[in-house]
Amino acid sequence: MPNASEKTEPPEPKPISSARTTLSRIMTALDVNLLGTVHGGVIMKLVDDVAGAVANRHSGGPAVTASMDDMQFLVPVRVGDLVHASAQVNWAGRTSMEVGVRVVAERWDDSTVPGAHVASAYLVFVAVDDAGSPREVPALVLETEGDARRFREAEIRRAHRLARREAILASRGSDAAEGAAPTG
Ligand SMILES: CC(C)(COP(=O)(O)OP(=O)(O)OC[C@H]1O[C@@H](n2cnc3c(N)ncnc32)[C@H](O)[C@@H]1OP(=O)(O)O)[C@@H](O)C(=O)NCCC(=O)NCCS
Repeated sequence: MPNASEKTEPPEPKPISSARTTLSRIMTALDVNLLGTVHGGVIMKLVDDVAGAVANRHSGGPAVTASMDDMQFLVPVRVGDLVHASAQVNWAGRTSMEVGVRVVAERWDDSTVPGAHVASAYLVFVAVDDAGSPREVPALVLETEGDARRFREAEIRRAHRLARREAILASRGSDAAEGAAPTG
């Protein structure tokens, strides 16, 4: 067992494709809101589930949701839609990863109607050890031009997230010093 002063090797870099995952579900009457369309929370759960699978696969162990932002609902989802949530790691830092999710809906019984892009989201996951402390994640091997573009855009979103958190903590003055959560 390594002692505290021993340095462990950083994990081997991994290609983005090794963790890419799609989760699919048919929407039923149990999933609707009072307007009769699918509740946004149902789609958010699907998004968090698939993004969690991707983050766990990439980091090779447990990873928790640290934030979910830029969730956009573009078109309503209806009962009988077969919904596919596809996710991949866009960016990996020391212990955190940004996972991008694209949600597409098609009719469950008619493959001739093209699927519609209904939602997109970006989530940050942090890999954790047995004690719940952040642990190192593998660097990303970018495989395509699209991967490189998503990586660059994820860096911009990360800079904004960190700057926003810093600005809110700074505006709270002494509250921030006591460790108040920026969203709390
Ligand atoms: C996420 C968590 C492990 C972070 O712990 P922490 O001690 O604040 O971690 P650190 O400050 O060392 O940050 C770790 C990494 O996460 C990033 N990070 C932490 N909070 C973040 C946030 N809100 N948005 C974006 N990135 C964040 C940091 O930038 C850092 O990234 P890096 O190592 O790649 O540079 C901790 O806040 C936690 O356990 N939260 C609860 C998670 C959970 O239960 N989720 C399920 C919801 S029910």
